[in-house]
Amino acid sequence: MSSNKHLNIFQTPFHNPSIFQIRDKTRFDGQLVDFCVPANSYFPPTEMEALINRNMHDILKYYPDYAPVYQDCIADLCDAPAENIVVANGITEIITILCRESRGPILTSVPTFGRWTDIPPDFDIPVFYLQRKKENAFRLSADEVIRRAREVSASTVVISNPNNPTGAWFTGEEIRAIAEALTDVDHILIDESFIEFSDLESAESLAMNSDNVIVVKSMGKSLGWHGIRLGYAVANTLQTEALRRKVPYWNINGLAGFVLKNMWRFKDEYRASFLKVAEDRDYMFEQLQKVPGLITYPSKCNFLFSELPKGVSGKRVRDLLLDHYGLVVRECSNKVGSTEYYLRNVVRRKEQTDALVSALTDVLTALDREPQVPEAEGVAG
Ligand SMILES: Cc1ncc(COP(=O)(O)O)c(C=O)c1O
Repeated sequence: MSSNKHLNIFQTPFHNPSIFQIRDKTRFDGQLVDFCVPANSYFPPTEMEALINRNMHDILKYYPDYAPVYQDCIADLCDAPAENIVVANGITEIITILCRESRGPILTSVPTFGRWTDIPPDFDIPVFYLQRKKENAFRLSADEVIRRAREVSASTVVISNPNNPTGAWFTGEEIRAIAEALTDVDHILIDESFIEFSDLESAESLAMNSDNVIVVKSMGKSLGWHGIRLGYAVANTLQTEALRRKVPYWNINGLAGFVLKNMWRFKDEYRASFLKVAEDRDYMFEQLQKVPGLITYPSKCNFLFSELPKGVSGKRVRDLLLDHYGLVVRECSNKVGSTEYYLRNVVRRKEQTDALVSALTDVLTALDREPQVPEAEGVAG
């Protein structure tokens, strides 16, 4: 239960309320700073917004192009050729198709992006979990994945790399070991939605040359624009042809299409933005170590996963940060395999990190003086 009635919008089993709902409900009357939606804070550049504004009339008036045009644009941004790419109206479109079509159990590590755990039950497909543990900084070994896949006779194995919300990762070598051991599994789905913020090797070339590996990637995080809905999958040509037949023929809207077609103009800024986020992540990681009682784990994403001091409710911390400081943070109680004793904070620019660190220190110090809530059992290792 949320401690403040006006904030009961947060009592949702899936994801978080939208920033629009949060703005409507909070008692804070200044501008909110969002640490919840994991958007790139160095992209898009203002010139790109200006370009869109100048072209808005045509973007809204005319039909967008067909998928092949956009596959070429994506090929220009990644290492895969267009024939291996399927473009999506947000990668959730393809995640839904792949989950729905699983011929048997799905295995995913938890905590993870909510759709991986929420979609299978909607289609009566069994879903099994592999719990990430704090003792291992939420990292898993290739062997653990392989063993658990065998144990549950998985048809589909989902690997989120790097993982949302923990920021933990597999190396390229570990991914290859999993793929080599699980050639008999129908699909190994590697969700690389946050890989751009890391120094990890992408599995795109592995997917192009494998029978069962498919890489899925949201572009909302790296483009810094979740609202336009863009993502893509990379697989071998047979798999891509089959997938293309399953997505709606005209699935990319005019605004998303315009962005893709103009990305060539902003490629340098796009690449540079990831390095800047990585620098801010190092800074934020260091600064969060100074918050008394907070434990923050290493991450290769554009967010950091932190464990609150024992017994301190993330819901309470979230409400106080929102109403008193105008800071929007994500507590993780509605993620399978996590609890309200964890926060996922998006990496922001240094000044904003400083504001968060100072507010968190105040709030945790104040809560330290309050009676504590007992911790729930058996979750988040
Ligand atoms: C790991 C992961 N995969 C996929 C998605 C979905 O992305 P999209 O917005 O492109 O549907 C998200 C969204 O937060 C995510 O965190």
